[in-house]
This record gives sequence, C-alpha cells and structure tokens, in this order.
Amino acid sequence: MDNVTIFDHPLIQHKISKLRDKNTGTNEFRSLTEEIAMLMGYEALRDLPLEEVEVETPIETCMTPMISGKKLAVVPILRAGLGMVNGILALVPSAKVGHIGLYRDEETHEPHEYYCKLPSPIEQRTIVVTDPMLATGGSAVSAVNFIKQHGGKIIKFMSIIAAPEGLKRLHEAHPDIHIYVGHLDRCLNEDAYICPGLGDAGDRIFGTK
Ligand code: PRP
Ligand code: URA
Repeated sequence: MDNVTIFDHPLIQHKISKLRDKNTGTNEFRSLTEEIAMLMGYEALRDLPLEEVEVETPIETCMTPMISGKKLAVVPILRAGLGMVNGILALVPSAKVGHIGLYRDEETHEPHEYYCKLPSPIEQRTIVVTDPMLATGGSAVSAVNFIKQHGGKIIKFMSIIAAPEGLKRLHEAHPDIHIYVGHLDRCLNEDAYICPGLGDAGDRIFGTK
C-alpha cells in the first residue's frame, strides 16, 4: 500500500511486546508508549522541510540546515493518543499541540466527538495525529476529517498497533495521508478490540478500570 509504513525495527517490536503484556503496569506502559512514539517519529519526520541558516561556529561562519517554516503540530486523539505526545515533543520541542476528543460507543463502536482545538493557522504545518490503537478505523477517519475541515493538508497518522480492517478503512478514506503503524495485528474481535492487541490503551495509560 502506498503511503503506509509498517515498522519492523527490533527496538519497536521489543517495546510493543512489553506493552502487550498484561502484567506491565501503568508506569512502565506510559514510558514504553512515549519511547515507541519517539522511535516511530524519528522515521515519520524524515521529510520535515529544512532551510539553510547562518551559524557561527568557534571556527568560522557557515550555512547549515535547520527545520524551516511553521514546523509541526502534534494532534493526539483523546485520551490514549496523549500518551504518545511527549515522545514526539522530545524530537521537536517547539511543536504545537492540538487535541481531538473522541470516544467509541461501546455498543455501536461508532466515534463521538466531544472536543476539538487545533493550532491556528494549520494549513502549512505538518500535522502528526497520534492514537496508539487503529481498530475499526472510525476514530482515525473522523479525526482526519476534522483536521481537513479546519484546513489541515499535510497529515501523518501514527498508531502503535493496527488491525487490518482499520488500516484499510483509514487508507481508503484518506489515501493522501501517510500512515505509520508499529505492528499490524491479526484481526478485531466481536467487541472491536484488536487481537492480540494490548487491551484498552486509554485505561492502561491512565490506570483507569
Ligand atoms: C480507543 C483508541 C482509539 C479508538 C480506536 O479510544 O484510543 O481512539 O478506541 O478504535 P476505532 O479504530 O474502532 O475507532 P476509546 O474510544 O476507547 O477512548 P479513550 O482513548 O478515551 O479510552
Ligand atoms: N481501543 C483500544 O484501546 N483497544 C483496542 O483493542 C481497540 C480499541
């Protein structure tokens, strides 16, 4: 699939295996989520635009590249996407952060929006949407719809674990965005949870339930 990157780096795979373990506690789960987001972000941000700037070294003045323009916006899908934000901010501390609040109805599995606040202007920014879980794809498709309605154009979607159903749905709805997936899992179960997955990402990051 064009515009889809599924990571095979051993560090990412190792950390995802630790996330899956039901005995991994909240503290470690949070750290691992951030670390994986940073490792994925390193690759996902390889096309950030650069510009040559003048810098005086102790030896001489030179022209040298720095990240240019309006830079980056990170947009987590609440709640679980929040767990990935600091990993991206570790790479680009000056990034702006927007928020999209969505929850899945437990019966229908349809996403419902309850919050949306995006940095403005957003048109020229590279926007990295974060959500550890891409399950049915409903939340991801809605989030990208909102961002496009608000003028977002350069959009990347980053999820740690995806189900084939969700990846297909997001890619078909938004073939223009680049999707980064830490691991592609087997399938969804009857409750639309990813198998083998890691359970409920929001509950595991925030220690709820
Ligand atoms: C989870 C997850 C995604 C969504 C994925 O959020 O963080 O946002 O489900 O499912 P989908 O691909 O089928 O839409 P949830 O709705 O449980 O909310 P939470 O993060 O607040 O726990
Ligand atoms: N949301 C989660 O947190 N986990 C899943 O497996 C599916 C949706």
